[in-house]
Parts: sequence; structure tokens; C-alpha cells
Amino acid sequence: MVVVFFTGFPRQGRRMSETRSQAIMEIIKNYIVKQNSDIPFYVADLSDVLFKCRYWKSKLPRVEPFYAVKCNTDPVLISLLVSLGVKFDCASKGEMDAVFAAGADPSDIIYAHPFKSNSFLRYAASVKVDLMTFDTDLELIKIQRVYPQARLVIRIRIPNVPAAFPLGDKFGCEVSDAKKILTFAQSLDLNVVGVSFHVGSLCEQPFAYSKAIGMAKEVFNVAEDLGYHFTLLDIGGGFPGSTGSYDTFDKMCYYINQSLEEHFPEGCGVHVIAEPGCYMSNSAYTLCTKIIGKRIRTDTEAEDSECFKKKIFYYLNDGAFGSFSEDFEKYGFHIKPLLSKSQLAGRPVHRSKLWGGTCCSSDVVVEEALLPEMDVGDHLVFDNMGAYTTVLTTSFNGFPAPLTHYVFPPQSTYKTENEKLQPFEDFCRDLGATKLKSFIKIQEYICHDDSNDDLFRKG
Ligand SMILES: Cc1ncc(COP(=O)(O)O)c(C=O)c1O
Repeated sequence: MVVVFFTGFPRQGRRMSETRSQAIMEIIKNYIVKQNSDIPFYVADLSDVLFKCRYWKSKLPRVEPFYAVKCNTDPVLISLLVSLGVKFDCASKGEMDAVFAAGADPSDIIYAHPFKSNSFLRYAASVKVDLMTFDTDLELIKIQRVYPQARLVIRIRIPNVPAAFPLGDKFGCEVSDAKKILTFAQSLDLNVVGVSFHVGSLCEQPFAYSKAIGMAKEVFNVAEDLGYHFTLLDIGGGFPGSTGSYDTFDKMCYYINQSLEEHFPEGCGVHVIAEPGCYMSNSAYTLCTKIIGKRIRTDTEAEDSECFKKKIFYYLNDGAFGSFSEDFEKYGFHIKPLLSKSQLAGRPVHRSKLWGGTCCSSDVVVEEALLPEMDVGDHLVFDNMGAYTTVLTTSFNGFPAPLTHYVFPPQSTYKTENEKLQPFEDFCRDLGATKLKSFIKIQEYICHDDSNDDLFRKG
């Protein structure tokens, strides 16, 4: 059950300034909702993605990110990442096609799925996506038949890591089995080049990365004894991406850097990569929903005051079959009524329940929230909605998927870590944006894609 308490505008994460959050609310209020559409929409703040890339580089300078496309397949997001030189973790033909369409090369991809269908594997071979993971003998047999030239990465299981979405049950071989599997790979004359792991999505134990890097090192040693010379370490995903999660991310970085120094020191010839999904896209996307219906219920069982006996049901134009999949609350959203502070001040706060708009009784968004009284036609905004949302929407009951509007907040400068203001383009250049031209093209695309031209800064 999702329980949310409205406490006015939410406290901001360390890196999301009040100004940016308010700018996004202003953009929604002044431009987009005036279009009076009934379709829910996202506002994608691409400068947040830029910030995330820059922050990653400053905290994990030795770890090259391969964005996990499954997290959010927005073509504009992928184009921006391509422009910034970020590489990709793809798990299917569809994901490979999405990154090719954005201009990525086959060499920019790791096919990070330990179980590949024959047709996807044949596709990978035909387009020369040759770096891929495996964790069983049977997968090796398949790869040997279809793509014997592939460069393989053995995925190991990291047991007992607390995470919102543990992956150790489904994927990864035991470290103790690595010798047997690698010996088999050798017998098939396959080229294994490294080790990967995933500590689980939204990993709750930053130290888990240390443990995992130590286990990966054991497998490097086993491989060395067998005559392999591994050159790749893939530390997977699991990093949080909400506005309030920087402390956890910083701790993860601390343990990762420390363990790399211990087991894979600089100059040892091992290329270290990661597969962040949630980290890259979560905080960049804010969802705006509309209240399409309202009902007042009296909860006769509530023992509290009269005020608490009254519960207001709101029916939204998005729901559990759209952006709010079962686990969306784990990604750190806040609810923000799209009302000015003066409008808020005049409204009583009530217990509220948010329903999705379809006819299904399980279509619940938030079971219990304390919200100022809203009206039909008002909007509720949800931040931190960029991870595993749009990719999970269905067309159940004929409800349309949300639209996306792309913005850069009105300020054209960004604060660096030492609090210096920097122009946006310098910021991109700092990130190593080798294809600045195509980046400008993205801005043009954004501008031309939306009728509210004055919303967006032009290149
Ligand atoms: C192989 C692999 N890599 C990366 C990711 C992305 O994980 P996250 O969003 O936790 O960073 C996932 C998520 O399921 C995954 O399965």
C-alpha cells in the first residue's frame, strides 16, 4: 500500500534546487496545461541528465557508464546520451534498434542479457554487437553456434544483497561454478573477456559493490589460471536516481573506488564499465496528471476526528496501467498539487485516495495521502518519474500513453561542484560531448517538436 503525506512543496534533494523544481512547475502551469488536453504528460528536463552524467564522471572517473536502455527508451533521452558519448546496455533487438536510431555504433553496446533468443543473437551477430553476457553452459553452446567470434562476459551472482529488486535469484552463476563454466567456454574455443554482476536494482547496501568487486576479482584469478586474460569488469546497475538519493549514491561511489583501487588498481589494464538505468533518467522526468473525477466518502471505521472520517477519492487520467506500475513508489516520487502557495493556503487538507482512470478496481495510484482539497480539472504533479514508468505503460481500456515535453529550465547556466556558474554549452563540452553538432540538432528538434517555442532555449 502506498501512503503519502502531503507536506507542502517537497524538500529538495541536494542537487535539485528549489529554483529548478519551481521552474518546472511554472512551465507546466503557464504553458502546457493551458493546452487543456486530457492526456497526461511528462516534462523531461534534459539538463538533469547532463548533470547526472557530469556528476557520475566526477564521482566515478574510472567507470564508463553504459546506460541501461530498459529503464526509459525515450528517443530524445537516448539521442542526448549518444551525443554525450555515453554507451548502452541493451537486452533485446528492439533496444539495439533504439540506440542505433539515435546514432550509436555497435561497439557502443553491451548485450547484457544472459539468456538470448536465437533470433536476437543472430541479429546481434549481423550488426556486430559482439560484447555480451552469459552465465550458463547452455548459453555458451548457443553462442558458439550462432556467434563464435563474440567477446563474452561471465555474469556472477552476488548473494544476500538487500535491494528493492534483487536479481540474484534469476541471473548469475555462483563464483564457485565459474571455473567449470570457463573451462567449458575454453573447450568451445570461446573468447571470454571479463566479469559482470548486478547487485540488484535500487541496491540498499552501498558496501555490496565492494563485496561484488572482490568476488569478481576471484573470477579474474580463476580465469588467469585457466589461461584467459580478462580485460573487462562490468559492475552493473543498482544506483538510485531520485532527487533525494545523492548521499546513497556517494556512498556507493566511495566503496566502488576503494575496491577498484584494491583489486583493479589504475593501470592494471582492466576497463571498468557500469550499467546505470534508474540513476540516469529518474529525476529528469516529472509527470503531470489531471483529476477527471472526484467523490467524497465517509469512512465510518475511522476512529479519529470528524476530519479524518472524510476521505476524498480522486480519479486521475493516468494510473496503474499507465505510468504508475505496481512498484513506482520505490523510486522516490513526491506529489505536488499544481496550485500556487496562496491557492494552497486557503484549502483544507483531507485524507485522500488516488485512483487510476480505468474501470479496473485494482487501478490504484496512491492508497492514502493527505492532500489539500482539489477540484475536477486540477492537476497533480509527480516528480522522480523517469525510471521504469513509460516503458511499462499499456493501452488498457483505451487510455492513451502520456506525452513528453522536453525542457531546459529558463536559466542557461549551471552550478558546478565548486559553486561556479557555467554556461550550458561549456557544461556539455566538459562532459566530452564530441558531437556538439548533433546536440544542437536535438535542441532544434525539441523546439520544433513543440508549439510553445518560447518554452525552450534555442541552440
Ligand atoms: C543487466 C541489467 N543491467 C542494468 C540494469 C539497470 O539497473 P538499474 O536501473 O538498477 O540501474 C538492469 C535492471 O534490471 C539489468 O537487468
